[in-house]
Amino acid sequence: MKKIAVLASGRGSNFLAILAHINAGKINGRCVALITDNKDALAITRAEKEGIPVIIHHFKDYPDKAAYERDLLASMKETGADLFVCAGYMRIIGKEIAEEFAGRMMNIHPALLPAFPGLHSQKQALDYGVKVAGCTVHFVDAGLDSGPIIVQKTVPVLDDDTEDSLSDRILEQEHIAFSEAIALFCDDRLKIAGRKVIILPKNT
Ligand code: GRF
Repeated sequence: MKKIAVLASGRGSNFLAILAHINAGKINGRCVALITDNKDALAITRAEKEGIPVIIHHFKDYPDKAAYERDLLASMKETGADLFVCAGYMRIIGKEIAEEFAGRMMNIHPALLPAFPGLHSQKQALDYGVKVAGCTVHFVDAGLDSGPIIVQKTVPVLDDDTEDSLSDRILEQEHIAFSEAIALFCDDRLKIAGRKVIILPKNT
């Protein structure tokens, strides 16, 4: 059974969805830690309710990003996790951490990458006028939302969509897509081949 550590900065709905899939036996793993950069993150109370250890490195308490990431890296190593998942973790992962955990760190992004990386991607999609939007689970590399893609899910964009209504529709799919990707990792079914992620058949 794989050990999973979750990084989150805010309300933690993706974190909760992952826990629900673990508790339902749909992911062959267990959550060993919630790591956050925000001491006020709602995800903290959610983790505590589930008895999951919480590690807080409040970003604003650090003089700079380098100091913050030094502590973050040390804590990540201490968890002993096999997989790190960024579930609404709102900071760009630095090069050292990305390289240390290459191939075992995932992020979810609320857009169909490579379209609309960065912040406010749902608004970017609406403003652009796309007819289909969605979410992407990808491995983390040193770039911005640029690592190899594991799972994508699509949703329609409706004429009367607002940023909120589109975000809600995408979020439902995020909760499904993330657990799908994590389950595949925990079953050793993901193989990275350059930019591509090959999904191996069961039991190979
Ligand atoms: C999600 O839309 C995620 O894709 C984005 O931030 C949001 C976090 O939501 N990076 P939650 O904290 O998981 O509820």
